[in-house]
Amino acid sequence: MSIGKSKILIFGATGYLGKYLIKASISMGHPNYAYVHRVKSDTDPSKIQLLQDFESVGVIVYQGELDEYEKLVSVLKVVDVVISALAVPQHLDQLKIIAATKEAGNIKRFVPSEFGNDVDRVSGALPPFQKLLDNKKKIRRATEEAAIPFTYVSANSFAAYFVDYLLHPHDSTSDDVTLYGDGEAKEDVAIYTVKAATDPKVANRVIIYRPPKNVVPQLDLVAAWEKKTGRTIHKNHIPEQEIITLSQKLPFPDNVPVAVLHNMFIAGAQLSFELTGDDLEASELYPEHKYTSVDDLLNRCLVDPPKPKLAAFS
Ligand SMILES: NC(=O)c1ccc[n+]([C@@H]2O[C@H](COP(=O)([O-])OP(=O)(O)OC[C@H]3O[C@@H](n4cnc5c(N)ncnc54)[C@H](OP(=O)(O)O)[C@@H]3O)[C@@H](O)[C@H]2O)c1
Repeated sequence: MSIGKSKILIFGATGYLGKYLIKASISMGHPNYAYVHRVKSDTDPSKIQLLQDFESVGVIVYQGELDEYEKLVSVLKVVDVVISALAVPQHLDQLKIIAATKEAGNIKRFVPSEFGNDVDRVSGALPPFQKLLDNKKKIRRATEEAAIPFTYVSANSFAAYFVDYLLHPHDSTSDDVTLYGDGEAKEDVAIYTVKAATDPKVANRVIIYRPPKNVVPQLDLVAAWEKKTGRTIHKNHIPEQEIITLSQKLPFPDNVPVAVLHNMFIAGAQLSFELTGDDLEASELYPEHKYTSVDDLLNRCLVDPPKPKLAAFS
């Protein structure tokens, strides 16, 4: 069951995840809207091309800044559902979206930019990562205080992102991996998110993306890649204390990815709680969507190596 065709506005549509959200939303037949940074015609031809591509598939593009309050309110009044895929440095700017959404008064669902750990359940984060989690919590509490219907997405680790990060399969000359103590593809994250944002069952709920075939320990991932490529991969082990020290010594923002890796691979925070019958898990809730397993993803990497994109935490 779904709300039906909803007018979906996406913030961060030009980003890594945002482009897939647009694609997923269009493929499901929703009218699409994007609120993007104003582009200066002479400075960024690739951005202009991307916006033209959006418009050519029917996306209505509004150019503006997040602090243009009146404009935001007027755009929000046109749509039903808001999905934010803003980057980490803009997470607190979502307070401006929340204020405008409250005034607009018509939004049926707001999905803030999270797409990681379930921030109200995760613990044991080192300070640089905890700061990011605290910002996401602030956005949750502000959304609830404004009485805006929400869906919080806990996507855990995007398989495409971390397979790339850990195995660097695009680099056939390297036989090294770095192991941090002991995932789903971005297309799946986008499809599950659009489904959840328009699904009454997920109103005012957290949805967790933990598809069973993608709960893969790092050593198993490396072993699978060795088997598929026939290569022996050299494993560089970094001890926990070294990672903790790096998180204390590195300047911001370099200390953030280190703290994230610690939380994921050493603290094992994403799997630190069992899902119960009350939890909504995406692959269980939407079995009609055949998600990409880590195994599928590795097979894809053999024939079509991904481009690295590792800047999302910067
Ligand atoms: N769990 C995981 O494995 C994982 C992996 C990746 C991302 N994520 C999460 O997914 C979310 C999206 O990340 P992403 O990597 O897709 O981000 P991204 O590629 O860095 O881009 C996000 C968007 O933010 C926009 N933006 C930047 N500064 C802005 C500003 N001042 N005003 C308005 N818009 C601005 C960018 O627009 P411009 O292009 O115009 O600057 C872009 O469209 C984040 O919450 C991130 O933490 C999770």
